[in-house]
Amino acid sequence: MLMDAIILSIQTVIRQLFNIEQVVHLSRPDSDFGDFATNVAMQLAKPLGKNPREIAEQLAESLRQTGDYTEVSVAGPGFINLKLSSKKLADNLQSTWSDKYGENNDGAGKTMVVEYPSANMAKPYSVGHLRSGNQGWAVKRLMDVTGWNVITDNHLGDYGTPFGVWVVGFLKFSSDEQLATDGIYELGRVYIATKKALKDEKERSETVLADQVQDWLIKLENNDELAVGYSKRFNDISIGHIHEIMGRLRIATDYELGEAFFARRGKQIVQDLLGQGIAIQNDDGSVIVPLDEFGIKVPLLVQKSNGAALYATTDLATILYREETWHPDKVIYAVGSEQIFYFSQLIAMAKKIGIKTELVHLWFGTIDQINEDGVREKMSSRKGVVMMEELLDQAEAKAREVVVGREVSDDDIKKIAVGAIKFSDFIADRRTNILFSWDSIFALSGFSGPYVQYAAVRVNKILHDNEITQTDISQYDWAPEKSVILKLLEYPDVVRLAARDLEPHKIATYLYELARDLNRYYETTPIAVGDVTDVEKQARLRLLQKVSQIFNHGLNLLGIEVPSSM
Ligand code: ARG
Repeated sequence: MLMDAIILSIQTVIRQLFNIEQVVHLSRPDSDFGDFATNVAMQLAKPLGKNPREIAEQLAESLRQTGDYTEVSVAGPGFINLKLSSKKLADNLQSTWSDKYGENNDGAGKTMVVEYPSANMAKPYSVGHLRSGNQGWAVKRLMDVTGWNVITDNHLGDYGTPFGVWVVGFLKFSSDEQLATDGIYELGRVYIATKKALKDEKERSETVLADQVQDWLIKLENNDELAVGYSKRFNDISIGHIHEIMGRLRIATDYELGEAFFARRGKQIVQDLLGQGIAIQNDDGSVIVPLDEFGIKVPLLVQKSNGAALYATTDLATILYREETWHPDKVIYAVGSEQIFYFSQLIAMAKKIGIKTELVHLWFGTIDQINEDGVREKMSSRKGVVMMEELLDQAEAKAREVVVGREVSDDDIKKIAVGAIKFSDFIADRRTNILFSWDSIFALSGFSGPYVQYAAVRVNKILHDNEITQTDISQYDWAPEKSVILKLLEYPDVVRLAARDLEPHKIATYLYELARDLNRYYETTPIAVGDVTDVEKQARLRLLQKVSQIFNHGLNLLGIEVPSSM
């Protein structure tokens, strides 16, 4: 592609002049200076023992002689600025990556496991698992288009006391009718009420309910018919709900191997580690893995004193299962910043037991809001955590407001709603905490999903209303389109970098800039109406075709669809 070709031409000139191999980076300077710039002369100054400005002048002279550039200039201490003709840029756009949109084979032959959204079964799907799904899905898509073999896994939180809490609470506070009507919300209500009852009885130093909870857990372990029946009933409701939300968010995974799937194996592995002296048993029967050699003072607890498996026990088994089953080169855990310390322990433990695979905690910041007192805090509602279903419903209502008065299908409303929510996940580096505000995520003139979607819809409308013909456009000079063409040419590098750094927000930034450049272009250049010749019109339509493809492709990487109208 173009950037590579330019780098190659600079490297060739360096080799001819100085007989040296040098890495060259390109940047995009202010357009007054040039289309591309490099600071390679500064880097060469030391090895060559020469003044960088002098090196830059020499390189510039040779680059001029190649005839590939319309202008080569030297600025400041030794920056080289390059300008290319619009025509050359357009030809390049046409020939080099017309159908590949920056897709490449960087990950060929390598396998990656990406884990998201890993929601918990006990309660309705809340915003707490929104970012995991968004980020995880986008990373999966980036890996797909860069040649990786990608396996996705929803590591469900389906193990441990919640089951016992559910049954006890169901028998005490609920009924078949209520469960049939309210489904997961009834289970959530029962769960919270029972947790409170457990807390209250603990304060009274009683253990009646707590004992019942344990009894149900043991029954389930022993495959008691009634317990298995309850488990299936509750799990079906819960997983059905998780699927519904994931469906609305347009995300899915290949596997759903939850914690419960790994618990038994985990306990076995803990025994093995004890045998190998890697894990240590405390006097109370609990088991730990010390991590001092990794600079982590707190050991990882892998078994409770009563022998029960813990979160880490199931994760331990999960790691080994993935190794044996999929032989991944990399495993990505899309999980919030709250678990940074836990994952540092888990990853250290994996090293300790000899796992070579790169395990990455792809963490992200919280979703915050400004509360009634004007204070920024983690997003919540009067009732507690914000439910995804509610958030999506509200987003659809907002999307309807945005397009009020226009004919927009329900399907498109959903695309706008989900697009707005998802895009807001990518407006900054994922580590940044997001400040959630309906106004900004639906801002039609800002860095938002609807802004980019609208730009895409507009392009598509122009393409829909005007036919592309066989008109010969080879003589067209593309000057008005130069900035849009340069932007399009950047896309393959953006994809490559976003994939390399696991940073999908780079795609979002790019798409926003493309939309903005395009809007500026429309302001000065008529496409299909007014004073345009047939050649101009046809050339411009063909460029818009590329733009449309890139919007589609880029938004798709983020899990966002383009509405047919808005
Ligand atoms: N279910 C967990 C939670 O909501 C997240 C699971 C993360 N993945 C893992 N392998 N530990 O906190």
